[in-house]
Amino acid sequence: MKIATILGTRPEIIKMAPIIDEISKRSISQIVLHTGQHYDKEMSDNFFRDLEIPTPDYNINVGSGTHGKQTGLMMEGIEKVLLQEKPDIVLVQGDTNAVLAGALVAAKLHIAVGHVEAGLRSFDLTMPEEINRRAADVCSQMYFIPTEESAINLLAEGYSRKNLIITGNTVVDACFRHLEIAKKKGFEEKALADLDIENMDNIITLTMHRAENVDDEKRVTSIVEALKELDDMNIIFPIHPRTKNTLKNFGLFDELNDLEHIHIIKPIGYLDFLQLTSLSSLILTDSGGLQEEAITLDVPALTLRYNTERPETVTAGGNILVGADKKAILENVDKIISDKEFCEKMKNAKNPYGDGDAAIKTVDAIEEYYNDGLLNITAPEDIMTSFSRKMTQIEEDITVSEFEKKENALIHMLFDGERMIFPKDDLNIKGMMISYDARE
Ligand code: UD1
Ligand code: UDP
Repeated sequence: MKIATILGTRPEIIKMAPIIDEISKRSISQIVLHTGQHYDKEMSDNFFRDLEIPTPDYNINVGSGTHGKQTGLMMEGIEKVLLQEKPDIVLVQGDTNAVLAGALVAAKLHIAVGHVEAGLRSFDLTMPEEINRRAADVCSQMYFIPTEESAINLLAEGYSRKNLIITGNTVVDACFRHLEIAKKKGFEEKALADLDIENMDNIITLTMHRAENVDDEKRVTSIVEALKELDDMNIIFPIHPRTKNTLKNFGLFDELNDLEHIHIIKPIGYLDFLQLTSLSSLILTDSGGLQEEAITLDVPALTLRYNTERPETVTAGGNILVGADKKAILENVDKIISDKEFCEKMKNAKNPYGDGDAAIKTVDAIEEYYNDGLLNITAPEDIMTSFSRKMTQIEEDITVSEFEKKENALIHMLFDGERMIFPKDDLNIKGMMISYDARE
């Protein structure tokens, strides 16, 4: 079996690293293709070093550009490599342009696609990421899903549960594996060592880069106004290149950089960043990965967005959405810092993203699909069987798989009277309302 991983940005490198590592441990043949969307060493090379994975076999160097240009160049480059390498499955991760380009190209070449971190939905179609993740799901055969909640999103859109594999998120694998190593090493980045962070109280780690925040003058100004008032905190701000550009364009960079309580530094390596996060009193962010890492590392998070595709973090109590609203930002920072009980509750929120074995579960499932011949995509030769879509209330003691066998059916959704539930094979469904396809 040969597995091709396509990645292009910082978070994809971090979240695919545990899977790349697991594939090499099992001596499965693999190639890694970098689209080159992120190219600064602080946004790319340093992560291959910190996460101890080999540099990519291919880099198609697309660089920065409009969505159309970037995605088009990626598709052309990816197609060439896939035609040459002929992998059995292509893995894409998350919601960047690499995910859209990689999934589309592979699907059209009839190569199976595995979407890692599938099923997330912000329900906000103005976000390029929402388009990318939905399009990738349409092209995929295997879905590696962080939580039951995300799996239910896919069921609601009509995806067959047979291909939905709940794994947890590989970000937990990466955090658990690297935090202890990081702590032993101490800070590698001089800018952090010089800040003498160990002796500083009230650290806020800040990251932001979402187009809808940093490209919008009104929103970014409102966030900056809040930051200016947080002068009893130490705000460490490893700045994303997009954000540096836009803050400069809006004339906000120098003003912020001159403030004593705000430390703007270059983007930092993963080991440094993990330590910084774990030392922080709270995280202020619009990053997807950081919402997950904060709850994994028991650090309260305030998310600078109006919606999130990680709602589990909010319902678990570890994350609060504050948008770009100055008042909401200031009030919630104050509450976390001054109200110990509130802060402890946020810290103790249960991590919904699993136990750090997402990569193992992912590669296990790929091997199983490969061995069962499920990665071969060929045009159907069986005459289509018709089925009817039904709903019913279950009165008997029966599990999901027993019901399916008995009725020659496939269950989609379960409703227990309060909420939708993911139909796991061995779940007893007595008393539940179910929707299912019944084969004729
Ligand atoms: C991209 C992803 C976003 C992800 C983020 C992770 C898409 C649509 N967006 O956003 O989902 O959360 O990566 O960080 O795929 N730049 C540099 N050096 C680099 C890379 C970028 O200077 O190495 C600058 C360029 O001016 C570029 C801008 O940053 O125009 C934005 O980069 P781009 O890759 O287009 O989007 P991100 O904001 O990084
Ligand atoms: N990160 C890092 N150094 C930094 C900022 C972030 O290593 O200076 C890591 C962080 O730990 C997280 C990931 O980058 O795992 C998040 O990437 P980003 O916010 O760029 O993208 P998103 O997750 O929003 O797609």
